[in-house]
Amino acid sequence: MDLQIERVAENEARPKPDQNALGFGRHFTDHMLVMHYTEGKGWHDAAIQPYRNFSLDPAAMVLHYGQAIFEGMKAYRGKDENIYLFRPADNIERLNRSAARLCMPQLPVAEVLLALKELLRLDRDWIPSANGATLYIRPTMIATEAALGVRPAKQYLFFVILSPVGAYYPEGFNPVRIYVTDKYVRAVPGGVGDIKTAGNYAASIMAAVEAQQAGFTQVLWLDAVERRYIEEVGTMNIFFVIGDEIITPPLGGSILPGITRDSVIQLVRDWGLAVVERRISITEVLAAQEDGSLKEIFGTGTAAVISPVGSLHYQGQDCVINNGKTGALSQRLFDEIQAIQYGVRKSPHDWVTSL
Ligand code: COI
Repeated sequence: MDLQIERVAENEARPKPDQNALGFGRHFTDHMLVMHYTEGKGWHDAAIQPYRNFSLDPAAMVLHYGQAIFEGMKAYRGKDENIYLFRPADNIERLNRSAARLCMPQLPVAEVLLALKELLRLDRDWIPSANGATLYIRPTMIATEAALGVRPAKQYLFFVILSPVGAYYPEGFNPVRIYVTDKYVRAVPGGVGDIKTAGNYAASIMAAVEAQQAGFTQVLWLDAVERRYIEEVGTMNIFFVIGDEIITPPLGGSILPGITRDSVIQLVRDWGLAVVERRISITEVLAAQEDGSLKEIFGTGTAAVISPVGSLHYQGQDCVINNGKTGALSQRLFDEIQAIQYGVRKSPHDWVTSL
């Protein structure tokens, strides 16, 4: 891939934000990666350029029919000053699965990773060193062809922007309060719930707003058919520790195949613990809470890492988990994954590459 590089002019470089008050996704670095696709020509005009607005035709198909997919990944600055990436190829491969489902073009994984590393080298100074802060990477693909017929577009834009971030939730690593909705559903079997497309997030906003207005951090989704089986939380997959078993809903087509989810499954198996992917209903969780066998609940995601769940609110009842405190497994997983991501501990499965 021929990659053009246009550096930001020195007097146009952006001021760097306070590393200790980053929030999530509010600041953007000096450069971005862009690449165009035209049917019959393939991907072309790959460039790293200063972060700037796009110009889009008002008829650009993404604005009308929503062909928009994205990924979330992170770059970590180790204490040794090396920059680490965690399973980056898995993210680009998942983006390609999202693309296939929405009839969008496939990306060349190896080339995209090389270009991403180049972008990170250029904006290396933006990668925070404050504790818990990282550089969030947002690869995105949108349909840009100007046309109003409903069909796959013939032109696309792929871009990668970078954002120095702190914790995703205002609670940080402290337990979050979750609202279980049986009013709205996120995804149906045969739909697009298992890919990372913008529309899934648009459809989730109303439930999230209602939950937040009622004092909760996130929504827990139940299956769309019976509204009984647990699917996932707003921006995370979810795990339950009941008795000696660690349970997470299976990838049945309507939940996102999270990379942190997969890493957690592999790590706990490495530790000799029993983890099962099976359907689990909200009533089973509440019954386990009643009989004292529910020990922990935690969410997993790139943005959130490991997020302990302090309570579930379902049909007017509050179910407090582990006295609202972070559980031992959540803590161990958080520490282990962070240590691997920041290059402190050697990755057991070749998950980490450095710049
Ligand atoms: C992530 O965990 O990276 C996500 O994409 C969640 C999100 C902030 C939408």
